[in-house]
Amino acid sequence: MKAAVITLSDRASSGVYEDLSGPALIEVLQQGIVSLTVEYGLVPDEKDAILSEYKRFSDCDLIVTTGGTGLGPRDITPDVTADYCDRSVPGISQYLIGESLKITVNAALSRIYAGTHGQTLIINLPGSVKAARECGQMICKIAPHAVKMIAGEGH
Ligand code: MTE
Repeated sequence: MKAAVITLSDRASSGVYEDLSGPALIEVLQQGIVSLTVEYGLVPDEKDAILSEYKRFSDCDLIVTTGGTGLGPRDITPDVTADYCDRSVPGISQYLIGESLKITVNAALSRIYAGTHGQTLIINLPGSVKAARECGQMICKIAPHAVKMIAGEGH
C-alpha cells in the first residue's frame, strides 16, 4: 500500500516548532500496516497548500493528515477535504471519533473527516502527537480492507 502523511500546521511549517505529529503518525502506520510505503508533506493551514498536497499524492491509496480539524479560526482541513472528495465515508469518522471519545471527551472537538477522491482514501486526524498516534492505530485496523474495497477487489 502506498500512503502519504501530511501535517497541516502554520507554526510547524514555518519552523516555529518541529513537526512531531507527522513522524509519529508515519511510525504508527508503518508498524501497523504491512508493506506500506509512506511519503511526507508539511504545509500551513491554507486551502491551496492542502489541495496541492492532495494532488501531489494523488497516486497514493491512502492520505492521512494531522492537524486543523478543530474549532479554531484557521482549522479548515475537513472543509477543504470534503470539497475535494467525491464521496464521504462517515463510518470511518464515526469509528475514529467513537473510539477517541473513550479516551478523551475532547475528541468531541475534532471534526475528523474521511472521504475518497478517485482511488485515494483521505482521512483527516487531529493535530496533537497523542491524537495522531491513537487515531493512527485505529486506522491500521481498517485501512487495508478499505483500500481493497476502493480498488474494486473482493474480500
Ligand atoms: N482524539 C484523540 N484520539 N486523542 C486526543 O488526545 N485531542 C482532542 C481532539 N481529538 C484528542 C483527540 C483535542 S484536545 C482537540 S482540540 C481536537 O482533537 C482538535 O485537534 P486539531 O485542531 O489539532 O485537529
